[in-house]
Amino acid sequence: MGSGVVGAATGEGFLKAGHDVTFVDINEVRVRELRDRGWDARTEIDLAGEPESLIFLTLPTPNDGHRYDLSAFTAGTAAVGRAIAGASARHIVVVRSTVPPGTTEGLVRTTLEENSGMVANEGFGLASNPEFLRAASAAEDFANPWMTIIASRDPKNVERLRELLSPFGGELRTFSDPAEAEFIKSAHNIYNATKISFWNEMWLVAQKLGLDLDPIAATVARSAEGSINPEYGIRGGAPYGGVCLPKDTQGFLGFADTVGVNMPLLSAVVEVNDRLAEIVDHEIDTVAHADASELRGQSTAAAAAQERESA
Ligand SMILES: NC(=O)c1ccc[n+]([C@@H]2O[C@H](COP(=O)([O-])OP(=O)(O)OC[C@H]3O[C@@H](n4cnc5c(N)ncnc54)[C@H](O)[C@@H]3O)[C@@H](O)[C@H]2O)c1
Repeated sequence: MGSGVVGAATGEGFLKAGHDVTFVDINEVRVRELRDRGWDARTEIDLAGEPESLIFLTLPTPNDGHRYDLSAFTAGTAAVGRAIAGASARHIVVVRSTVPPGTTEGLVRTTLEENSGMVANEGFGLASNPEFLRAASAAEDFANPWMTIIASRDPKNVERLRELLSPFGGELRTFSDPAEAEFIKSAHNIYNATKISFWNEMWLVAQKLGLDLDPIAATVARSAEGSINPEYGIRGGAPYGGVCLPKDTQGFLGFADTVGVNMPLLSAVVEVNDRLAEIVDHEIDTVAHADASELRGQSTAAAAAQERESA
């Protein structure tokens, strides 16, 4: 449902794996393009007489300023709900679009239930399986995933999707709460964006110093624990400490200032760390009835571990 970059790559991947695929898109030009490739493409979803199937929502979820515009996504989901009302078999709806955490069990579930008159995970299945492919290599990425995420409250949906997706290879992780899968996809993109902005900010400083950033960044990519160790720095609620990280983040901010470069990302790194340190301390101070010493022990242990790694 929604046969753009992701929908076409997803459908093509399943076709090549030997499955029957129907592409649905409201855009007639797009439907004609897909038919020209010899694929079964339609402008409307109709499940009457269709056997049990998986319906992948690959609808657009653009942003409008600092919010997602889910209008097209909702319209497409409502059409799926109406089609489910006329279906004889039980279908599983899979959210593959990138959506804010909570959307599958909130907006999608409500829209499908209202339009089908059925209850999720009874009359139809509901699952999340976010897409990780890159637009430039969509078909190849779909065919060779390095990470597959499946989430559903109903383990039967998880198993059905595992059966379908595991032949494509790569690591496959399952969750019972779709919000976890949605959060993973959001964090995945935001993490990549943050890394890119980090090196662009460093590039501005290197430019000022007449240094070529490329060999510097290529070396740090191999030397920094944050880059070479996947376990490093990923624990929440444990700000960095020790001597080096607080000293060098703050010292470099002042240094960059002297060469005329403002570093908003590095400033935010320091600010977030200070705020987290306050929150963690505050939590410890305000626990009135819980075993404060135990909590202190846990927080201190987490922070100590992160400090040890970061020193
Ligand atoms: N493009 C990527 O590289 C990429 C990678 C991973 C995830 N995603 C996510 O996947 C989702 C889809 O992205 P995309 O790049 O394929 O978008 P796209 O714009 O290429 O395709 C969306 C398609 O949905 C169709 N559509 C819109 N409203 C519809 C409706 N009501 N019913 C049926 N079809 C409808 C449009 O005509 C369009 O062809 C988004 O959530 C996006 O964030 C994209």
